[in-house]
Amino acid sequence: MKNEIIDEFKETGAVVVGSGVAGMVTALKLSPIPVLLVTKSGIGEGSSSYLAQGGVAVAVGADDSPELHSVDTESVGKGLSDDRIVRIITESAPEEVKWLADIGVRFDRDESGHYSLGKEGAHSRRRILHAHGDRTGCELVRALRSAVRKSPHIKIIENNSAADLVKTDGRITGVILRKGDGGWLSLKSDNTVLATGGIGSIYRQSTNPVESTGDGLAMAFRAGVRLADMEFVQFHPTALLSDQKPLPLLTEALRGEGALLVDDKGRRFMKDIHALLELAPRDVVARAIWDRGQDNSQVFLDCTPIWNAEFPSRFPTVMSNCSVAGLDPSRDLLPVVPAAHYHIGGIFTDSDGRSSVPGLWACGEAAATLIHGANRLASNSLLEALIVGGRVAGSIKDTCEGTSLGTEPQESLTALTGEVFPGIREKVAGIMWEKVGVLRSEESLRTALAELDELNEALGEGLSEEMNIITVGRLIARSALIRRESRGVHYRTDYTESDPMWDKHICLEGDVTGTVRSGSDSMEVMK
Ligand code: FAD
Ligand code: SIN
Repeated sequence: MKNEIIDEFKETGAVVVGSGVAGMVTALKLSPIPVLLVTKSGIGEGSSSYLAQGGVAVAVGADDSPELHSVDTESVGKGLSDDRIVRIITESAPEEVKWLADIGVRFDRDESGHYSLGKEGAHSRRRILHAHGDRTGCELVRALRSAVRKSPHIKIIENNSAADLVKTDGRITGVILRKGDGGWLSLKSDNTVLATGGIGSIYRQSTNPVESTGDGLAMAFRAGVRLADMEFVQFHPTALLSDQKPLPLLTEALRGEGALLVDDKGRRFMKDIHALLELAPRDVVARAIWDRGQDNSQVFLDCTPIWNAEFPSRFPTVMSNCSVAGLDPSRDLLPVVPAAHYHIGGIFTDSDGRSSVPGLWACGEAAATLIHGANRLASNSLLEALIVGGRVAGSIKDTCEGTSLGTEPQESLTALTGEVFPGIREKVAGIMWEKVGVLRSEESLRTALAELDELNEALGEGLSEEMNIITVGRLIARSALIRRESRGVHYRTDYTESDPMWDKHICLEGDVTGTVRSGSDSMEVMK
């Protein structure tokens, strides 16, 4: 193993891992603190942020308010959203979106110059800001990347993967990187931020980039950091059924404009399921489509009712994904399947992104701020990444006195081998999809845990991406087994109702399992 120390960052600087919206916003707002921005592939690439389509939910319409946005957020959260963080995010949204416009994000506007507002499932108002139609993520990443490249306080390290955290005397003091050339690099910092995104690619069917393997969560767990809500994995109802990987998304904004879901007999089956029809909460629509798939019947998205001359410029990503699949939305029905899309759980943080261990912050999809509760309202996650990323930077700047970390080389918590284990990824993806997916039960979860344990034993002790994937899979399955009820995106076929005794969050911290109530950080240990 080769250890290098980056001395100039060891006392007052910050390491930010991940270059999606959360990581780039944090890095920019940390100015003038020197920042090392580490990312697995190219800057802004390999991120869900880049793929985002629908947009950013912000209450800016004349008939809207942050209060209404909060009510919608908490209503889908099914009693588990923390109302304090919900309020912080919905209230600061208009101002933070102005910051995005100031750094050069060009949101779409109507003829009178007002933001053009889209609609998505379970929103009571039109409040989704978008850019270049459904290329919102592309535009956000373009503007943020350009600002990052121009910022002298940020040094970018591309094509390097954070592999493990370093912990000294109960504090996170840096991170070990696996370099693109196979070597190892040790970074020291008082302030480490994990903005490593989601976990979708540990599932067979996912809309997430292959980089979304939950590395940040696995690293944090190994370092004894508290995780929460791991069982809550959101499945998007309408990924386009195709051979592409990740599965292309057919944005919910299509249904917001009036696209219909039909079965293979042309029936609008959502009529029998929910009063909001195609715009019912995501978990409801995803389960309805999943159920039809079990009877070997195919579900389609019908965009013909909303086809018009503007469709190609409003939905350019949809157009190009359909074209790759040989489909034409002006006349063809588009076959859809649910796909792992967003992880609500993650590193348990306060509203400033502080984790349970000093020296470590988290934001974006890697964090569990508890805003989303048991289900996430569409287009609330870019917003969360933007706002909490800024708050992490503020909190680091407020506390950044600089503790002296010394000059000794730092050791990883785990043996460094960097081995690759062919085939493991596919096996885990199959287990997660079939047994820890849209529907779960005690039987499926226990089988999944046994199978994941077996794969884990085959790996041995050394650090690897496969180790992270298995760790995260086990933590999701373990939490899903503990929550003996159905709520939001977590659906147990053996406990199909919500149970008030589970109005709380499940936390995992090493061998300790506990629960916390929304709005509190004191953990009650479970026996
Ligand atoms: P990401 O954007 O995923 O960035 C994570 C970064 O960390 C990446 O750069 C990744 O390469 C890097 N990384 C990962 N592991 C490591 C490691 N070990 N070392 C170094 N770097 C690492 N949300 C909305 O609000 N509105 C939408 O319209 C919307 N549309 C979506 C469409 C799609 C297809 C998908 C997949 C998601 C969508 N979401 C949307 C969800 C939203 O995009 C994400 O939740 C959000 O972008 C997460 O931002 P992030 O910065 O936390 O993570
Ligand atoms: C979409 O455009 O359907 C995705 C929006 C989101 O996940 O928030």
